Amino acid sequence: MGRKLQFEIFRFNPQDPLSVPRMQTYFLEETDKMTLYIALNRLREEQDPSLIFDFCCRAGICGACAMVINGRPGLACQTQTKDQPAKIILHPLPVFKLIGDLSVDTGVWFREMYNKTESWIHTNKVIDPHQQEERMENEVAEQIYELERCIECGCCIAACGTARMRDDFMGAAALNRIARFMVDPRDERSEDDFFEVIGTDAGIFGCMGLLGCEDVCPKQLPLQNQLGYLRRKMGITAVKQLVPALGKIKLDKLKIGKFIPGGDK
Ligand code: SF4
Ligand code: SF4
Ligand code: FES
Repeated sequence: MGRKLQFEIFRFNPQDPLSVPRMQTYFLEETDKMTLYIALNRLREEQDPSLIFDFCCRAGICGACAMVINGRPGLACQTQTKDQPAKIILHPLPVFKLIGDLSVDTGVWFREMYNKTESWIHTNKVIDPHQQEERMENEVAEQIYELERCIECGCCIAACGTARMRDDFMGAAALNRIARFMVDPRDERSEDDFFEVIGTDAGIFGCMGLLGCEDVCPKQLPLQNQLGYLRRKMGITAVKQLVPALGKIKLDKLKIGKFIPGGDK
């Protein structure tokens, strides 16, 4: 017989004028290989059909089931109850707009942030659809792929002290996205162009570098590498803008390093 799990779940429906924020207690017997996703579905099916939470893929791919699990952002479908204490406390992700109970709207936040960071390839080239695809170096393609693995779950934003304090902060996911376009040879933006986008306190200079983001990222993206790299690169760009003569110095001479997927920090 499995453990008797006690769930303390945040309940609030902002659409319902009679709803008040509260914690609600549920009990459930633990089964073999039970994930939080399974537990929540059983609670909804067997005890409380009004419980609101999101899921889609059950495989750690869609990012929809992210929530705060015993104080730590994570994916419900990738969290086994056996790895949690018998009392499991669930809250919705902070920062994002609450839809109800454990469900938040991450889509609007990510769309706004990607618009703000101009998260697309900037090029003046006219694409001829009949031409053969341009080849890309394998190493570069792998670097881009590594950063493209983000599933937009929002865990890194929820774990970020700066994002909790200021709602214009881009957060690790958007900064990682900028790093992805910096690597891409098809993007013709200059360092100054990127500086325009992220060289502020709402961008890379607002990051406190404590790396809660990397600790909770369920896809283990190399966020620490990216944030450090962007901070050094944008710092040098700021100095070059202040002292134009420095612009002639090659960045690699200033030891800012370069992007190494999953490599040393
Ligand atoms: S390292 Fe920067 S982006 Fe990551 S959690 Fe800390 S402040 Fe946020
Ligand atoms: S960087 Fe990681 S934690 Fe942040 S949104 Fe992407 S997958 Fe989620
Ligand atoms: S349901 Fe898709 S990541 Fe959990």
